[in-house]
Amino acid sequence: MNYSLQMINQQLQLVDLDQVDMAPLIIDFISGKMSYRRKYGHAGGEAISRAVGIKKGHRPNIVDATAGLGRDAFVLATLGCRVHMIERSEVITQLLKDALRRAEEDEKIGTMIKDYLSLTFGNSQKELFHTPFEPEVIYLDPMFPHKEKSALVKKEIRMLQEIIGQDEDADALLNLALTIATNRVVVKRPAYADFLASLKPHTSIKTKKHRFDIYLIKA
Ligand SMILES: C[S@@+](CC[C@H](N)C(=O)[O-])C[C@H]1O[C@@H](n2cnc3c(N)ncnc32)[C@H](O)[C@@H]1O
Repeated sequence: MNYSLQMINQQLQLVDLDQVDMAPLIIDFISGKMSYRRKYGHAGGEAISRAVGIKKGHRPNIVDATAGLGRDAFVLATLGCRVHMIERSEVITQLLKDALRRAEEDEKIGTMIKDYLSLTFGNSQKELFHTPFEPEVIYLDPMFPHKEKSALVKKEIRMLQEIIGQDEDADALLNLALTIATNRVVVKRPAYADFLASLKPHTSIKTKKHRFDIYLIKA
């Protein structure tokens, strides 16, 4: 493992120094895949939108306590939810901060990003007590060992696994989140994975590769 953070063309990039011909890891909310999801991802009513409880006239406040590359948080923000991200990896936080800075300067999405997406560096087991708003929903997507052979694991996932490891404390994070969220905790899992903390959810929403396990908080 030999990575370096480099500012190239005003974009912070994570470069794999052992494989310099490989594309670096960049978080980009403005163009590419993320932009496609923003434009077209909502038409089919993404499973994630139902999972967090988006309804006509209601957009819950969400804390994404395992921000990662910020993709899910970005989608939720574009759906109209205020989303606060927490990330404990310093490297990933730097990449996220740089992506937010560039997105905030963008003509089309700048205002939305400033109003709806924020970030704290730290461990959610501590930071969940200091969020900028009371979270109706806490969203969790901890790392999970991938079934595929390592050569087949997507570059981004492989880099994340090497930098971050396996989020061994995810069970404890779920148990804490259940005491803080006011409406629900949503856990994203690979379709084949067991329930986090062996805790059966109230319901699950399934997609081809994933499952959103939904834990409702009783009033
Ligand atoms: C699989 S990634 C999340 C991917 C994200 N949902 C996305 O759409 O890009 C998991 C991330 O959660 C972070 N994480 C795990 N446990 C955490 C904790 N207790 N506090 C803060 N971040 C945590 C890891 O560092 C990692 O970056």
